[in-house]
Amino acid sequence: MAIEDTFGRSLEDLRLSVTDRCNFRCRYCMPREVFGPGFPFLPRGEILSFEEITRLTKLFTKLGVRRLRLTGGEPLLRHDLPVLISQLAAIPQIENIALTTNGSLLTPATAQILYETGLHRITVSLDALDPQISTRMAGVPVDPAQILAAIDAADSAGLGPVKVNMMVRRGLNDQEIIPMARHFRYSGHILRLIEYMDAGTGNGWDRTEMVSAEEARRQIEALWPLDPVAPNRPSETARRYRYRDGAGEIGFIASVTQPFCRNCTRARLTAAGRLYTCLFASEGLDLRAPLRSGMSDDAILQRLRECWRRRTDRYSELRGSIPPPTGKVEMFRVGG
Ligand code: GTP
Ligand code: 5AD
Ligand code: SF4
Ligand code: SF4
Repeated sequence: MAIEDTFGRSLEDLRLSVTDRCNFRCRYCMPREVFGPGFPFLPRGEILSFEEITRLTKLFTKLGVRRLRLTGGEPLLRHDLPVLISQLAAIPQIENIALTTNGSLLTPATAQILYETGLHRITVSLDALDPQISTRMAGVPVDPAQILAAIDAADSAGLGPVKVNMMVRRGLNDQEIIPMARHFRYSGHILRLIEYMDAGTGNGWDRTEMVSAEEARRQIEALWPLDPVAPNRPSETARRYRYRDGAGEIGFIASVTQPFCRNCTRARLTAAGRLYTCLFASEGLDLRAPLRSGMSDDAILQRLRECWRRRTDRYSELRGSIPPPTGKVEMFRVGG
């Protein structure tokens, strides 16, 4: 039976983080100074098994979940990920399974396997076309040509249209907005420009470093006029636009300047089995202990139901009018 939270929002999307590890060290997510060689990532025994993830996902479908997104860290670092995908794809209520990746491990062969085991769509993060800028953003050497090849490979494998997420940080990669837009025009892929957010605890967020969706859109419109496109569904994060000249679609994720909490139907499960009902939450509901202590499906379901029914999250609407929260969950644990 579908459920609603205190603001009448249903639970439709589940984002599953399958690992807290990443081979990148993006400054806005896992700054190298904090996440250096000695950082204690989760040991194997503390990570949910595929069976545990699948069991929980089945319970979530009883509450209304229809769409899944696999995230990390970097989800392609999780061994045997296609095995999990095939288990999730076999759940009849699941209509769509997507994956968000940095693209560095996405070869044509991997894309093919992901598609064959039941993945529907891929989103690749790419912050710049310039190798020096993308390397500065990622904190490790990144060859954008390789990521572009991965995007094409995903498309060829049937996982398109591929969405390309570009997080814009003023002074670091904002001069790449136009080159990125130019590159993805007529490509069939959908570029999405993301406002820099105050996520996690490590990025030292400063609002002046955020380039608003409005500012980014004006830059693009000065060269190529855009027309708005109706949302695919109310809970969509991106505002969609289409180039008037027929060059395809582009999106803007304005989570800071135009928050979309009102329609937020997303829950997030960490690799360690904690459930977060907001990207900016400090507290999550532990599901691993109940899973491993032999709790029944009905009893776990009751906990999930209670958690969502009590949900009051709307951080992005409150940002600035409440004191900055402390101890916010990290992006690499809840997958963005
Ligand atoms: P689609 O269904 O394909 O549109 O995916 P998505 O946009 O829901 O997921 P994706 O992982 O591509 O999210 C892109 C970015 O949007 C994330 O990296 C975040 O910056 C932002 N975002 C996604 N979900 C939320 C959310 O619930 N709240 C806020 N504030 N930002 C979000
Ligand atoms: N603000 C906005 N987006 C972020 N991401 C990571 N950290 C932030 C942040 N502080 C995005 C990345 C990637 C996705 C996994 O999360 O750009 O696309
Ligand atoms: Fe890794 Fe993504 Fe975080 Fe970058 S934003 S460090 S690629 S999890
Ligand atoms: Fe949903 Fe929280 Fe993001 Fe608002 S800030 S859209 S409630 S995850």
